[in-house]
Amino acid sequence: MIPKDRISKHKEQRIEEKIAQFRVGKEMEAVQEIIEFDKTPSDLKADMDRFVIGQEHGKKIVCTAIAFHYRRLGQALKEGIVDSKGDIDIALRNTRTPKANIMIVGPTGCGKTYTSETASSLVGVSFVHEDMTKFSEVGYVGQNASDILVDLLLAAGGNPNVAQMGIVYFDEIDKIATETIAYKDVSGRGVQKGLLHMVDGSDNTVHIGKERIFLSTKHVLFIAGGTFENLENIVKKRMRRQDLKGKWRNFMTTDDLVEFGMERQLVGRFPVRVVYDQLTTQDLKDIMIKSEDSALLAFHNDLMAWGIDLEFTDEALTEVAKQAELEGTGARGLISVLHRVLLEDMYHLPGNYTGEFVVDNNYVKERLG
Ligand SMILES: Nc1ncnc2c1ncn2[C@@H]1O[C@H](COP(=O)(O)OP(=O)(O)O)[C@@H](O)[C@H]1O
Ligand SMILES: [Mg+2]
Repeated sequence: MIPKDRISKHKEQRIEEKIAQFRVGKEMEAVQEIIEFDKTPSDLKADMDRFVIGQEHGKKIVCTAIAFHYRRLGQALKEGIVDSKGDIDIALRNTRTPKANIMIVGPTGCGKTYTSETASSLVGVSFVHEDMTKFSEVGYVGQNASDILVDLLLAAGGNPNVAQMGIVYFDEIDKIATETIAYKDVSGRGVQKGLLHMVDGSDNTVHIGKERIFLSTKHVLFIAGGTFENLENIVKKRMRRQDLKGKWRNFMTTDDLVEFGMERQLVGRFPVRVVYDQLTTQDLKDIMIKSEDSALLAFHNDLMAWGIDLEFTDEALTEVAKQAELEGTGARGLISVLHRVLLEDMYHLPGNYTGEFVVDNNYVKERLG
């Protein structure tokens, strides 16, 4: 670090100008990317399929909502920028688009967060992950709604206009249901109410040091995910009462979510609802074989860096998938099982061996046994 008094006034000004230029450049890039967004829902899903395996029904709905959100925003921005003669601030402020936030219900490790994160990188917008179990009402210890704005700003490299076009993911939204959290000193209802305006789209001022930064959430896409244990029973019970037949996921209503303990107003702001399935053994196997950034691929690349070419036989992959399924943590189980299988070799092989390293069925059983 150069002492501040060693930098001349002139230089300091130049640096500030450069940083400002860089920011504007980044902002133009981000805006341009949204304006030019032309992925159809099926394009987006095809891209998503390279990473997120299974969840065919859910991915279709999620990709449709996301593609429409960004296409709509892009088109509105295009007009807005013409009207404002190139002023992005004004264009963003004047752009009004309806927004359809998304709620994903599904077991742990089935790809809820992963879908959202992948979508943000495919669209090219910033992504924020908020763990709702850390939230409490304003005035209590813990995170509250305004922290989300700061996180969003950070994810966007400090650029408020880039932040305004990002995706915010609420993880474990079901943990702020009224009942679940009632044993704590704070009420889930309060936390849920605290999110209403933000999710809807509100104008905010974020105070960072001496700076006051305007940040609207009007264009931010919110995705909420949760396991919602027992929701299935709530829906099925109602289906029996009303003599409805079919898959429960097609019948889940706002009332069911309210019965679970969610605030009606909050649920209403997440109109696009999706239920993700438990991943099957075949899905888990496919993740290892097909997903472009699967845990297996990561291990493969790690070992390749030592000149070791890791190879699993088909039977060995089936065995790993079966073992992972027993863990009951969805695709997360793959990481821990693979780790257990490979740990010894990851310790001994580097430096002692190069070339092919084949793992077969017996080997997996031996290591896990
Ligand atoms: N459907 C899937 N396809 C490919 N990988 C998946 C899938 N589901 C989960 N994973 C892997 O497991 C990890 C944990 O999944 P995540 O999406 O965080 O689970 P959750 O549904 O609990 O949010 C992801 O980072 C990803 O590597
Ligand atoms: Mg998650």
